[in-house]
Amino acid sequence: MTDLDQLKTDALTRIENAPDAAALEALRIEFLGKQGSISGLMKTLGKMSPEERQVQGPLLNGLRTETTDAIAARKAVLEDAELEARLATESLDLTLPAPAAPRGSVHPVSQVMDELAEIFADLGFSVATGPEIEDDWHNFTALNMAETHPARAMHDTFYFPDFDSDGRRMLLRTHTSPVQIRAMVDQGAPLRIIAPGRVYRSDSDATHTPMFHQIEGLVIDRDIHLGHLKWTLETFLKAFFERDDIVLRLRPSYFPFTEPSVEVDVGWQDVKGRRVLGGDGDAPGHGWMELLGSGMVNRRVIEMAGLDPDEWQGFAFGVGVDRLAMLKYGMDDLRAFFDGDQRWLDHYGFSAFDQPTLSAGVGASA
Ligand code: PHE
Repeated sequence: MTDLDQLKTDALTRIENAPDAAALEALRIEFLGKQGSISGLMKTLGKMSPEERQVQGPLLNGLRTETTDAIAARKAVLEDAELEARLATESLDLTLPAPAAPRGSVHPVSQVMDELAEIFADLGFSVATGPEIEDDWHNFTALNMAETHPARAMHDTFYFPDFDSDGRRMLLRTHTSPVQIRAMVDQGAPLRIIAPGRVYRSDSDATHTPMFHQIEGLVIDRDIHLGHLKWTLETFLKAFFERDDIVLRLRPSYFPFTEPSVEVDVGWQDVKGRRVLGGDGDAPGHGWMELLGSGMVNRRVIEMAGLDPDEWQGFAFGVGVDRLAMLKYGMDDLRAFFDGDQRWLDHYGFSAFDQPTLSAGVGASA
């Protein structure tokens, strides 16, 4: 056996018996690495005579190729064995739940509007809507704010360049109160509606955004008085905040479309540094916060909407939906509502499959 044959037998045997990938790699370096024995032999070709090279060249090339192939073959065998071993020890648990597919969530504003619709439906109110692009008559004039009325200045109104049929500029409604007018004109009396929706004012800071949400309430019937208003508000707030110790304080106020007008405060108490609705309002550690505007519908408004104010009376109220959401679910920055930040929505959003109901609770869990 020549030295070359000896080297080949030795190399192939050892490669064939390499126990693992590391040992195989060590053999590759030993034979084929820069300082490897076969590489060393290849280098001697340069020093041989042409005749000698003609004989040795093919032999050495053959040796290198066979060694390279043997290493590749052994490598494949070792990898197969490793996979077999893994499959034998690891098992797949088919009882594990599948990873959750990403799902959208219900925005807190939509959730709260659904909750309010549910609560007021139970009190016999239906949902009415009106356009966000309003005309001057519905947003102001019919609500007892004539063109020169100073109360118009209380609303920082967005106007359009376009004019309505009265020659007044179209606008983005500044409150949901124009839906009062639309409902009375369209449906007549008696009437029990709520009108949730977007409203717009040119105003922006941590507690004001140029677009926000209100819910309007309107009851028109015979012999309606302030007691009905207070009972309705109390009943709705108890159901909405899901507690019985909600207390209200009614303060005289002014809105052109209600007479008398009342501002409604709700009592809160300090619970571990957080203001939680409920409690006494006047006791130490308790307080009042302004929640909504309301009053008995001004008879001029009833008249302008085409009803006889001697026959029909009613009450109306308007409350900020975003504010209700913040108070109930503990968000502190109104602007986050409209940023569209996925993380915020994941945290504060509600499952689309959890519909608020009076029997299962209106604050369906997120
Ligand atoms: N529209 C009033 C506002 O936006 C609220 C309100 C509604 C007051 C209904 C009284 C009655 O401030």
